[in-house]
Amino acid sequence: EPEDELKLRPPIITIMGHVDHGKTTLLDRIRDSRITAGEAGGITQHVGAYKVEHEGKPVTFIDTPGHAIFSAMRARGADITDIVVLVVAANDGLMPQTLEAIEHAKHSGKTIIVAINKCDLESANTMHVKTQLAEQGLQTTDFGGDTECLEISALKGDGVDDLLELLALQAEVLELKANPKGNARASIIEARFQQGRGAVASVIVESGTLKVGKPFICGPFAGKVKALINDRGESVKSATPGTPVEVIGFEELPRVGDALVEMDSDRAAKKLAEERQGELRSERLKIPQK
Ligand code: GTP
Ligand code: NA
Ligand code: MG
Repeated sequence: EPEDELKLRPPIITIMGHVDHGKTTLLDRIRDSRITAGEAGGITQHVGAYKVEHEGKPVTFIDTPGHAIFSAMRARGADITDIVVLVVAANDGLMPQTLEAIEHAKHSGKTIIVAINKCDLESANTMHVKTQLAEQGLQTTDFGGDTECLEISALKGDGVDDLLELLALQAEVLELKANPKGNARASIIEARFQQGRGAVASVIVESGTLKVGKPFICGPFAGKVKALINDRGESVKSATPGTPVEVIGFEELPRVGDALVEMDSDRAAKKLAEERQGELRSERLKIPQK
């Protein structure tokens, strides 16, 4: 990509952690802070991800996919997470699913930021958590390591702004950029059938700008963007890199992790779909060797 075509894009954040350590509470808290900051009513569309702004800097969160979906998406090449926020309850410390999440995040080479949650509790023991983190190779910055770690209370909201600030800063450090020009490429993060709308999918745009009216290929199927709905439930004409949006216009239900790629013409999209379907048919007809 020519360097001057690249523009900063929002970081894409996945929150992971052990059961009940506060992932949903944190996501709700972040979403609420946005709603009170700018919106009336507070009706948010469920698009599987949402974008918030912290002091003018956008940050995109994927709604707790859990590491199963995280891995499934990676297996299909949809490696869209930039930063993993690892939530650890300060009273519990590292638990089996925390260790799994660390494993997944490390394996994928993602930046891990630790949010030690439930720091409002009497029984909170942040020192113990940091010791445990160091044992996993995640030495925190206050102990001379390079793992950023924040002490928060998702329930009370303490430290949540600091977390957003840190994520926005980390994004700058990582120099997350994408070319917003040209045909879009997006990743499917959720897909479902909706009455009256047919197959609907939530996507996050990776590059280019997704536009209403554009033909596309997704897996072995052609489609056309009939409508785009943003995470505030508003109909929009286009979506830029790092933005989550709901897409209407699929012929078939796409798979999570599939890539949606805009094409220049219906004909080109249909031709590619036929080729891909042909490949799938011959795959199925192949007699196993041995
Ligand atoms: P799963 O989705 O089931 O894995 O759980 P989760 O990680 O999403 O945890 P959730 O947000 O559902 O929180 C679990 C419980 O912990 C709830 O009762 C929350 O109210 C509570 N909780 C979450 N954050 C905090 C916090 O900062 N302080 C305290 N005291 N409680 C919290
Ligand atoms: Na829970
Ligand atoms: Mg949850």
